[in-house]
Amino acid sequence: MALHATRNDLGENAKKVSVTVLNGTLVDLIDLTNAVRMAHWTMKGPNFIGLHEMLERFYNELFAVGDEVAERLVQLGGTPDGTSQLVSERSRLTPYSQATTYTLDHVKELADRFASLAKSVREGIDSTDDAGDADTADLLTGLSRDLDKKVWMLEAHLQK
Ligand SMILES: [Fe+2]
Repeated sequence: MALHATRNDLGENAKKVSVTVLNGTLVDLIDLTNAVRMAHWTMKGPNFIGLHEMLERFYNELFAVGDEVAERLVQLGGTPDGTSQLVSERSRLTPYSQATTYTLDHVKELADRFASLAKSVREGIDSTDDAGDADTADLLTGLSRDLDKKVWMLEAHLQK
């Protein structure tokens, strides 16, 4: 991986680990943002308006944190995997179906993907911290806490 020159004094290895982890996170965040928007647009069924509005908030928040993630990796000398083509090629999430319509089916599909991203972000906290980049670990820790909260808010619709 070729990094751009920067005055940031983190070690080369720490930068490479963080750029790799942040790019994986960015790609999944963009993919998940689009899945949430699809659900927001296509869902039909009970609890429609509450879910429709909650998902609008979710995708706005995912978009904002994706910006933080991309800018952090640029600060470390990296290049974001931010094009649609790269996201499609590299996302680790299960592709979202255009055919899903029922509100609670969307909630289940999204809960699976939020939990999957939460797991990889949690792994990224440890690898960036071990590599010596406490700031990236901190950014991912905030994201991790937020993803866990969203998993709870989705799952609460599915549990009795
Ligand atoms: Fe909308």
